[in-house]
Amino acid sequence: IKQGHGVKGLSEMGIKSLPEQYIQPLEERLMTKIEPQESIPVIDMAKWDDTQVANSICDAAEKWGFFQVVNHGVPLQVLDNVKKATYDFFGLPAEEKIKYSKENSSSNNVRFGTSFTPHAEKALEWKDYLSLFYVSEDEAAALWPSVCKDEILEYMKSSKLLINHLLQVLMKRLNVNEIDETKQSLLTGSVRTNINYYPICPNPELTVGVGRHSDVSTLTVLLQDNVGGLYVRGNEGQDSWIHVPPINGAIVINIGDALQIMSNGRYRSVEHRVTANGSSNRISVPIFVNPRPQDIIGPLPEALANGEKPIYKQVLYSDYVKHFFRKAHDGKNTVDFAK
Ligand code: SIN
Ligand code: FE2
Repeated sequence: IKQGHGVKGLSEMGIKSLPEQYIQPLEERLMTKIEPQESIPVIDMAKWDDTQVANSICDAAEKWGFFQVVNHGVPLQVLDNVKKATYDFFGLPAEEKIKYSKENSSSNNVRFGTSFTPHAEKALEWKDYLSLFYVSEDEAAALWPSVCKDEILEYMKSSKLLINHLLQVLMKRLNVNEIDETKQSLLTGSVRTNINYYPICPNPELTVGVGRHSDVSTLTVLLQDNVGGLYVRGNEGQDSWIHVPPINGAIVINIGDALQIMSNGRYRSVEHRVTANGSSNRISVPIFVNPRPQDIIGPLPEALANGEKPIYKQVLYSDYVKHFFRKAHDGKNTVDFAK
């Protein structure tokens, strides 16, 4: 097996059983767990500014940390285009994709990889990805793969208004009535988009697509296809995992650790995971909206104005992110770095 062809390479070789490195410990497999009957909210964003809608956004961020949005203003054609572009990238010959691997990529901002942190993982995850850290249009034009560059940029551009509306509403509940330039850059100052490919897996019940983790973002805008497999930690204890059902045209939103910290724990960055699938390939396209690496994050003064005690300390965001990428996925443990 040639290194670097990813799990898609393994899948397409027609392997009949899962290689040992991908076998997850029993407790990390999801197949045996019971699904609660609840579901995360679906919010119509058409009147995002109405009190009722704004409240349902903030309530969902407090209770679930996850929700789906419809009438979100991102044209459905843009979503379809980025899904097709994702297939186009992963459909490239292995030699083309390998140009973007850690060893070969001309920039740290463009990275094709497999699993999450293979160097630190006891068991690997059944996923390939391309990760694109946005610096400028010019850099994207020069460095991003041409098969998917325009579609991803368009998706990112089209999502900006949705992101700003969500943050405006979420900030208001934290007593931040106006997002000035400093706050805007603290909340949205750097953006990374991943395209994920989860190929058909020979023994899906033995492994995971993505292990339990919470995102390190401010918030994540996640496009998934119609296959399903994303599960979110529910409120009914250890074994409560809620499926996020694919809804055509909807976008999944989740709160990340940075916003959990800034809100002093009011908004929850909730653990989630993705199962592997034995009969369908799956793709997803998350946009991670983040603070800038050089930002210091901590509970916002406005969120503490009522005399609340800060439960997190101030941390340099790049240190926080480095901590996340130093280890395998480990559920909700990353946030302890800010305690
Ligand atoms: C992730 O949370 O890392 C991926 C989510 C997904 O593929 O749906
Ligand atoms: Fe995630």
